[in-house]
Amino acid sequence: TRQTGLTFYDPGFVNTAATRSAITYIDGDAGILRYRGYDIADLAKNSTYLEVAWLLIYGELPTPAELAEFDEKIRRHTLLHEDLKQFFSALPHTAHPMSMLSAAVSALSTYYEDSLDPHDPEAVEISTIRLLAKLPVIAAYAHKKAIGQAFMFPDNSLSFVENFLKLNFGTFAEPYEVNPVLVQALDRLLILHEDHEQNASTSTVRLVGSTEANIFASISAGIHALSGPLHGGANEAVLNMLGDIRGSGESVQKFIERVKNKERGVKLMGFGHRVYKNFDPRARVVKESADEVLKDLGVSDPLLDIARELEQAALADDYFVERKLYPNIDFYTGVIYKAMGFPTRMFTVLFAIGRLPGWIAQWREANTDPGTKIGRPQQVYTGPPARPWPTSR
Ligand code: SDX
Repeated sequence: TRQTGLTFYDPGFVNTAATRSAITYIDGDAGILRYRGYDIADLAKNSTYLEVAWLLIYGELPTPAELAEFDEKIRRHTLLHEDLKQFFSALPHTAHPMSMLSAAVSALSTYYEDSLDPHDPEAVEISTIRLLAKLPVIAAYAHKKAIGQAFMFPDNSLSFVENFLKLNFGTFAEPYEVNPVLVQALDRLLILHEDHEQNASTSTVRLVGSTEANIFASISAGIHALSGPLHGGANEAVLNMLGDIRGSGESVQKFIERVKNKERGVKLMGFGHRVYKNFDPRARVVKESADEVLKDLGVSDPLLDIARELEQAALADDYFVERKLYPNIDFYTGVIYKAMGFPTRMFTVLFAIGRLPGWIAQWREANTDPGTKIGRPQQVYTGPPARPWPTSR
């Protein structure tokens, strides 16, 4: 086999391109997901977003001292350059938060021109900290911009998730009280999104980085890829689908029939997966916590009942069973984000914050060695054979 920087392939086989990585393992048939060997359910139950970020990036669980230092460094880098706020004022308030996020992350690199070299370990470390610290602040700015509220300053006395919640839901008009139920639920959801092998956005981050483009440009490209409704944008599409069903008064069975008839491309959003042909193990964890979170928040949402009904109907229907279509991570997350108070168009932004450590870990694995080669995914040519130019022209 020959290493082409991004993919390994054996010339003896057509198109068996595969990327080698030591970060995440998925068994799609068995519904298994492990980060650096640890099962996703164990991590979701016992760890935190920053601890798992360290695991993904450095390969082992951090010692308490390592985690404390990592957390402290991130707190010390949450401030954004004041000029970046002007950037947001140039955008219409109707701009999609994912568009704002990708544009602002790309612009972030302009403040750090002296530390962008992918082969300089110090530059890679400080960029890692800056991205983890500043993406949540940029995300909260996008949220505040969308709802016309003043941007909040980070509060470094708070934990990572507490700070993020205050940036989104705090205002200068009154003190913000952190709700531990929200903190724990959001931390768990972020863990579930942290990495997922070579999905479309991660492959984008690796490929862009393989040209020696800087990490901010690579992550910005990943955010664009994630925004598509077939990928991370599905969590927003699920809520819109549930809302349409409720608003139209259409029965779940009628909607399922429209999906099966492929009416104008109607899909059961949040169902199906390129790799999982069994339950997405993350969806199990999300479904369990959906109940818990809504109960603890004292929220009852008819959309959750519709989601349950849809799932039940689909899992009992041969059309979905034959095609091995099961709920994926996006099916239930939106109901929880909505109960937390996030607007639907912020859901994929939350996915991006969750996925950031995985993107960084995968970018570092693929692109920091000096011997890294540029990625060049294989093609199988299916066009016409060589032919002479028509003399009649
Ligand atoms: C994420 O790759 C990752 O790891 C992604 C992700 C991550 O963590 O990074 O897990 C996150 O992106 C999850 C997926 C979120 N997307 C959605 O929920 C959108 C709805 N799902 C589909 O668009 C679809 O299932 C995909 C895109 C997710 C997967 O597509 P596949 O595996 O290429 O499946 P396919 O399009 O080949 O479909 C096979 C059959 C087709 O029917 P037939 O042509 O055989 O008759 O299943 C049907 C499809 O029409 N089908 C669906 C369906 N998904 C597939 N029919 C109805 N509803 C659906 N959701």
